[in-house]
Amino acid sequence: MSYQTITIEKRAKGVAWITVDHPPANAIGEQLMQDLEAAVDELTEDDTVRVVVVASAHEKIFLAGADLKGMIHNSGDADGEEDMIARQSARMQACFNRFATMPKPVIAAINGHALGGGCELAMACDFRIMGKGRIGLTELSLGLIPGAGGTQRMTRLLGRAKATELIFTAKRLEAKEAETIGLVHRSVDPDDLESDTTAFAEVLAKGAIHAMGLAKRAIHVAEGPIEEGLKVEANAFSDTFMTDEPSIGLAAFFQKEKAQFLD
Ligand code: COA
Repeated sequence: MSYQTITIEKRAKGVAWITVDHPPANAIGEQLMQDLEAAVDELTEDDTVRVVVVASAHEKIFLAGADLKGMIHNSGDADGEEDMIARQSARMQACFNRFATMPKPVIAAINGHALGGGCELAMACDFRIMGKGRIGLTELSLGLIPGAGGTQRMTRLLGRAKATELIFTAKRLEAKEAETIGLVHRSVDPDDLESDTTAFAEVLAKGAIHAMGLAKRAIHVAEGPIEEGLKVEANAFSDTFMTDEPSIGLAAFFQKEKAQFLD
């Protein structure tokens, strides 16, 4: 399988690294989603792969979230067709859900900013180990809401009170703070991220990974079905475009300014 925006490397002890390499910011557009979906298929079916690590080739960004340039373009096309935006949100949700349901352990090795969709993909993984950068659901600062499972997964991970605070304020947390509240499992020295992740992945790889896959299925059910929440999220994401807030937020982002939603 050939990929345009990621590489896959099969390392020792059955640990496979998916490394996202999509300059300038590892933003998630159609091609990256297609590559991630194909990678999930490939790594799920490959019995020699016991543990998957999601990483980034960018020096300081894990993933900068949904492709905002593509979003502006598509929201222009979507006049009178709001559910096209809901469908795009559902597409990204489905892509990340493939990581959440992959029947083997998946670790996000967060080397830098994991914002918006980057945070959502990391939350879809079983483990998050973070070196530097900031992590958070930043969509509200753009007049949007998280549309790739973030409202559901952050609430499940942190509880309603903390999730509401972080989503409303679009807060970008440093690794230590994210570790303190349980958003990441471990913050590590950035220079040690790769070796620490490898060591942890190899511990898992030496374990009963089929049992882990089955336990994962049951653990997810313990949190309750996610499907209804994802539908509501995709429709709510689309509804943001019925207000003037996304145009204010996105214009401000591209002008490198803070959005002013209050006149
Ligand atoms: N979609 C599309 N392009 C993006 C992007 C995104 N999500 N995030 C960054 N970029 C682009 C920038 O527009 C810039 O392009 P340019 O060189 O043509 O101006 C380039 O990537 C580098 O970004 P820049 O902001 O200049 O780099 P930085 O190092 O100062 O900051 C980030 C990096 C990731 C902290 C910052 O870009 C950011 O906050 N991005 C948005 C994150 C976000 O809120 N995502 C949620 C989306 S729903």
